[in-house]
Amino acid sequence: MELIETLKLRRSYYALDDKINVNNEEIIKTIEEVTELVPDAFDMKSQKVVVALGDKHKELWDAIYDAFDGKVAREKIDMFKAGAGTVLFFTDKKIVDTLANQFSDYAQNFGPWSLQSNGMLQINIWTALRELGLGANLQHYNPVIDEKVKELFGIDDNEVLLAQMVFGNILEEPEAKEKEDISNRVRVFQ
Ligand SMILES: Cc1cc2nc3c(=O)[nH]c(=O)nc-3n(C[C@H](O)[C@H](O)[C@H](O)COP(=O)(O)O)c2cc1C
Repeated sequence: MELIETLKLRRSYYALDDKINVNNEEIIKTIEEVTELVPDAFDMKSQKVVVALGDKHKELWDAIYDAFDGKVAREKIDMFKAGAGTVLFFTDKKIVDTLANQFSDYAQNFGPWSLQSNGMLQINIWTALRELGLGANLQHYNPVIDEKVKELFGIDDNEVLLAQMVFGNILEEPEAKEKEDISNRVRVFQ
């Protein structure tokens, strides 16, 4: 499939369930390959993910509900829990700080670069999941959930949670977007 065609298919899908027609091995392999292929500044490999599937995914969303102590509606959490899995995105602060110390002229750039690389990883995994026929949405319950997530998956304190991507079988297509006048954002000079 052409890149632009696949990008057009990637949307925020909220109506999901766990009756997916893709096996876990294929999902895992796709996420592994994308993670290996996405670039990072100085090739520092500061981007990390946790893939929570099946019961672990359900357990995660129950833990997220508990972390908010009832402040997030059960129905909203259940909407995410209904999916088949969650990709948790982290940046490894220890790796970023080590490189920043090594290349002091660019020290202040390493934090932003790390976030940029994480964003690259997010969009590529989001799009690759869609290519597998799965819908996904992007959530940010961090930092409230950080401790629970670290406990649940044995994550090192050096890793900072940046985003949670829920995926699953698509039950409903989102509304079509209005066509944008892209010349407001893409300025061409030739
Ligand atoms: C950096 C970033 C943060 C986002 N955070 C959230 C979020 O916390 N919750 C949510 O439901 N959607 C979130 N989204 C999804 C956007 O709202 C969505 O991508 C945008 O409205 C365009 O819709 P589309 O994904 O269907 O193309 C986020 C997207 C990006 C790129």
